[in-house]
Amino acid sequence: MTSEAPWSHDLDWPHGLAPFDPFDTDIQCDPYAHYAWLRDHAPVIRAGQRETPLYIVSRFGDVTEALRNAHDFSSVPRRDIVIPGFLLNSDPPDHTRLRHSASRAFTPRAIAAVEPVIAKLIAERWEPIVSAGGGEVIGSFASPLTIAVIATVLGIPVSQSETMREWTTASIEYLGMLFRGVPNASANDTALTSMLAYINAVFDTVDVTHGETVVANLARLRNEGVLSAEEAAGFACQLFMAGHETTTLLTGNCLDFLSVNPDIFARLGAVETIPKFLDEMVRYRPPVHRLTRYAARDVEIAGCRIPAGASVRLLIASANRDLAKFEDPDRFDPLRKNAAHAGFGYGIHMCIGSWLAKLEVRLMLETLVATTARLEPDTRWPRQPLAGGAFATVGLHSLGLKVTPL
Ligand code: HEM
Repeated sequence: MTSEAPWSHDLDWPHGLAPFDPFDTDIQCDPYAHYAWLRDHAPVIRAGQRETPLYIVSRFGDVTEALRNAHDFSSVPRRDIVIPGFLLNSDPPDHTRLRHSASRAFTPRAIAAVEPVIAKLIAERWEPIVSAGGGEVIGSFASPLTIAVIATVLGIPVSQSETMREWTTASIEYLGMLFRGVPNASANDTALTSMLAYINAVFDTVDVTHGETVVANLARLRNEGVLSAEEAAGFACQLFMAGHETTTLLTGNCLDFLSVNPDIFARLGAVETIPKFLDEMVRYRPPVHRLTRYAARDVEIAGCRIPAGASVRLLIASANRDLAKFEDPDRFDPLRKNAAHAGFGYGIHMCIGSWLAKLEVRLMLETLVATTARLEPDTRWPRQPLAGGAFATVGLHSLGLKVTPL
């Protein structure tokens, strides 16, 4: 029998846990006790405004079933605020066509060409930190690195990285405002407009006949009419927006974790292989905590009715700690067997940049193992958490580390 999902504030929360509010910064920064209680007691709840509730879903099975069902769970917020070329906010058949173009842009040749360049970018940025005995590693290492890597992969000069980083950060804020329905949000579109204009200018000058970069491939698809001009430029901008903050946070989470788990750092590259370590990090401390879908019709999750048009927040970070899927889920175990987690999403929207994020963080960890004896927290820099934003990201805004060279 179908029932109405309970309201978060009507539930009998245990002592010490405030009713779950997905936008409360304190809860977002430290949500795992809430997630565990929700999975055990109320796998679907309502939160937010009484007139326009958000439905919050916390169990692995329910979250992944909804992500696999794009027919009932749409990714389109409101057609009038969708940016052309944004895979994330499209449904089939548009999504299918755009995603197919993505595989034509990320050719094996384009990808193979970038690995040594990324390794060099990492080495150049990690070496001064080792020489200085440490420093703040998010704003001065992870963030500039990940934007330079995306620029490199796309085929945009690394010298343009800082401007891309400013535009990307401001554009993510703008998207967040659009999706939250902030009045006059469109007045904040300057950065996105500048980024789109810049990408269009690159498309106009890039060598599409011989070029093998992602930008050259996108320009070719545009010239062939496979993608419209708006879609090709929007697609390229989206790669910066979806890939920069997420990979920065994963890099920060790895460094933070290794600084307080020296035994794991000592074994990195030996017993715990680096790819398994970083994949377990995406399960255990995922940079993206929840994904939003919109009920395309009246649907049901875990016996609860969700009305057509409702906004559904699928807690992938909670799904990743579900005992029904993962043995001893709160333990960090890089050797775990059933590691198919939801940290990169599930279904048709599963992350298309996961190969790049994994390549980059793997190369970063290899550099660490080759150059660094020990990482330790350094309280001269505040360890500042970060949570929220258009992509519901959680991680660190700043982190100080002492670095002992090998
Ligand atoms: C650790 C780093 C990353 C994490 C944790 C991550 C996470 C995710 C997740 C959870 C989704 C699914 C979104 C949904 O279903 O609504 C997604 C989709 C996507 N990601 Fe990533 N991502 C990362 C890195 C990247 C990078 C480096 C890029 C590109 C350069 C990228 C580009 C995309 C795109 C374009 C989509 C949309 C795919 C689609 O809708 O078909 N991501 N990502």
